Amino acid sequence: MKTVVNLPGLRQVISDWKKHGNRIAFVPTMGNLHDGHLTLLEKAREISDRSVVSIFVNPIQFGKGEDYENYPSTLEADGKKLRSSKLDLLFTPDLKELYPGGVDADTRVNVPGLSTILCGKFRPDHFSGVATVVTKLLINVTPDYALFGEKDYQQLLVIRRLVYDLCIPTEIIGMPIVREADGLAMSSRNGYLNQKQRRLAPVIYKTLQAAATKLHKRQADIVSIETEGMLALESAGLRPEYFSVRRTSDLGESGPEDRGLSILTAAWLGPARLIDNIKVVMDQ
Ligand code: PAJ
Repeated sequence: MKTVVNLPGLRQVISDWKKHGNRIAFVPTMGNLHDGHLTLLEKAREISDRSVVSIFVNPIQFGKGEDYENYPSTLEADGKKLRSSKLDLLFTPDLKELYPGGVDADTRVNVPGLSTILCGKFRPDHFSGVATVVTKLLINVTPDYALFGEKDYQQLLVIRRLVYDLCIPTEIIGMPIVREADGLAMSSRNGYLNQKQRRLAPVIYKTLQAAATKLHKRQADIVSIETEGMLALESAGLRPEYFSVRRTSDLGESGPEDRGLSILTAAWLGPARLIDNIKVVMDQ
């Protein structure tokens, strides 16, 4: 495994690989790697000749008072995991490398519409922060494929949209959510939970599953399912921001004729803001 920390070094390795006709797959991360990240890498290795992972905690996707300062940094342990997963290239730029004009520079990539609903309502600059850094990474790594997890489903759609609108020649691949044995979606933020909160956390996925069953069996209308989901999470001691049934394809409000639906939620459990979602395919 090679490690590079600057853009010229990254471009050099990539251009050598391309000269040899290698196809490249890329997994951007913020580090503190778990099996969710490693599944993306496994798939990247399967579909390409060379795999690249980036680790960069991107300040501009965190709002004021969010966890940027405390975001877990475990570079040594991450390196070990990546080496044993047979990664080819690790890119770990510092702040100046990706933000030469400073983090307050005005140039931003913004995907309107999609960025202002669901998580975007509660984290107003989050998706433009994600879109900006992912664009910077894609135009330097120039991968054939880039892989993203469906745990951050809204993020995945924002990235698909920006790649399409900016004509970036990278295929975006979405990968299923990897869960702990008790159903909790793996996340670096699960590490913020104390033991009691950790035992409670699977209620998020359980509530999504119960809502999905009701939706699929048409036992309740969408508004009641959303309200019940909020109440279930609240009465378990969480502070949900939203619990929403949406069209899977574009996260628009669903109508009676839509078959591909998703239920998405974001909820605070103590210091951790956790997100999760579940897909429901409606019968005709
Ligand atoms: P991060 O939270 O580190 O996640 C990196 C990638 O791993 C994302 O595509 C995310 O969806 C995926 N992932 C995380 N948990 C997962 C799980 N349980 N199952 C499947 N995939 C999972 O998402 C980001 O970083 C950043 O916003 C980034 C895209 C790197 C831009 O800064």
